[in-house]
Parts: sequence; structure tokens; C-alpha cells
Amino acid sequence: MSGQRVVITGGASGIGLALAHRFAGRGDRVALCDADADAVRGAKADLPAAIAETADVTDPAQIGAFLAGVEDAWGGADVVCANAGTGGPAGRIEDLDFDDWRACLDVNLDGAFLTCRWAARVMRAQRSGAIILTASTSGLHGVPHRSPYVAAKWGLVGLTKTLAMELGPAGVRVNALAPGAVEGARMERVLAMEAEAGGTTLESVRAQYVNGTSLRSWVTAEDVAEMALFLASPAASKISGQVMAVDGHTETMTP
Ligand SMILES: NC(=O)c1ccc[n+]([C@@H]2O[C@H](COP(=O)([O-])OP(=O)(O)OC[C@H]3O[C@@H](n4cnc5c(N)ncnc54)[C@H](O)[C@@H]3O)[C@@H](O)[C@H]2O)c1
Repeated sequence: MSGQRVVITGGASGIGLALAHRFAGRGDRVALCDADADAVRGAKADLPAAIAETADVTDPAQIGAFLAGVEDAWGGADVVCANAGTGGPAGRIEDLDFDDWRACLDVNLDGAFLTCRWAARVMRAQRSGAIILTASTSGLHGVPHRSPYVAAKWGLVGLTKTLAMELGPAGVRVNALAPGAVEGARMERVLAMEAEAGGTTLESVRAQYVNGTSLRSWVTAEDVAEMALFLASPAASKISGQVMAVDGHTETMTP
């Protein structure tokens, strides 16, 4: 299964970049956007055949221009990964700033709305396609001191379920990935934030994440990309409206 037209937001680093490499590596056409211009340049150097543009998913004009360009170039899309996300602030709710709350929901939830709205239109017209949202195990559990991020990711689960219902009759599948703690720079930043907010050490937060999973393990971006490939494939042709955890089985976020 190759030759699909794959769109990835937040595609210039971490999970998004792993998705781009994995889809491109098997012969798919990849278009990615990211708000980080330097990272986009790096991704373009890695994947010269890809469409790679700087666009902020929270800005309807920027994400709209990127997606319109993809539509002009390809006439549609077979797989759309609404992946761009940010960890948001950490702290007790009474200490959180409203602007920080809104900024977190803006990227994680509003950005997915704008991306999925476009995907729904083009996929409904072509009567095929797979939308894959990047939620999180945080969207299946609660995490103390991370209320904006958790609320946004639970929101994505609701969006996934609802869009699967709206688009299923048109032959479009909608699923979400729920990665656990993924090795990499982003999680290191999150651990530091959570340690500070919880008044504990980095090592204790790190151990909490590992000990809360049945497999006592972290996840790699490549593990998550494998699940996305499966969800985009004919093997998943009857799978829609699901949240697929790739997390070593999270038993608890607060062991
Ligand atoms: N890393 C983890 O442990 C983990 C766990 C669960 C879920 N996730 C989710 O996975 C997704 C990817 O995260 P990651 O771990 O690869 O982190 P990352 O920071 O490496 O990648 C996120 C990418 O999104 C981009 N981005 C951020 N805001 C954007 C915006 N407004 N418009 C366009 N691009 C934007 C960033 O520049 C970055 O390249 C996110 O939705 C994140 O919430 C990550």
C-alpha cells in the first residue's frame, strides 16, 4: 500500500516527522506544515520530495493557505494527520493564566478543528480517506497540574468519535492516536514543568510515567508512526471512531 497523499500538521519534528519519514519511506506523497520555520527547513532537507511549509495551525489564513496549496497540487488527500500540539502550561488550576489555557486549546483543539474541517470536505467529496488525530493517553486519564492539555486531548477524543459518525457514511474513517510518554526533547520539557509544578524531582516524575505502564516502558515516535500506518492501511478498513493507545498500557498517570 503506497502512493497515498498524506498531509501532516506539526510534521517537522518528533512524532510528526517520524510519520513523514515512515509514509514517505514506503512511497507515499507527503505534505507537512509546522509553525517552526527552522524545523521545516530541516524536514525539507531530510525529505526533499515532500511539500514542507511553515504554517501555524491556529491561524485560519496560514493553515488555510497551506491546505489550499495541497489541494491545488494533489486534488485531495488520502490521509490527514492532525498532529500539531503543544504541552501547554503546568500548574494548579487556580494558578493558571487564562491566556495560557486558551493558547493550549488553540493549538491542540482549534488547530485540529481547522485541519479536520478541510479534510472532511475533500474526503467527503472523494468518498474515501482516513483522518488521524494525535490525542494522548492524557485524553483517556486525568493528569494533575496539566488541566489545559488534558481538556484539549479529551476534546480531540470527542471530535474523533463525532467525525467518525459524520463521515463514516461517506466512506471516511476517523481515528485518534493516544501516545504515552514519548522519548525526546518535548517530554523532557514536560517532565521539568511537571516536577516544578508538583514540587518534586525530575527523576521522580520520570519514574512515575514508566511505573504507571504495564510494560514499564517509554514509547518512541516510531512506535506511534507504526500505528498511524496501520490506521491508514486497508488492514484497518473497518476501524473508525477509535482511540488507539500506543503507551505500553497506561494503568495510571499517578502511581
Ligand atoms: N511527546 C509525547 O510524549 C506525546 C505524548 C502524547 C501525545 N503527544 C502529542 O503528539 C503530537 C506531536 O508532539 P511531539 O511529541 O512530536 O512534540 P514536538 O514538539 O516534537 O512536535 C510538535 C510539533 O508541532 C509543532 N507545532 C506546535 N504548535 C504549532 C502550531 N500552532 N502550528 C503548527 N505546528 C505547531 C511544533 O513546532 C513541533 O514541530 C502533539 O499533538 C502532542 O500533544 C505527544
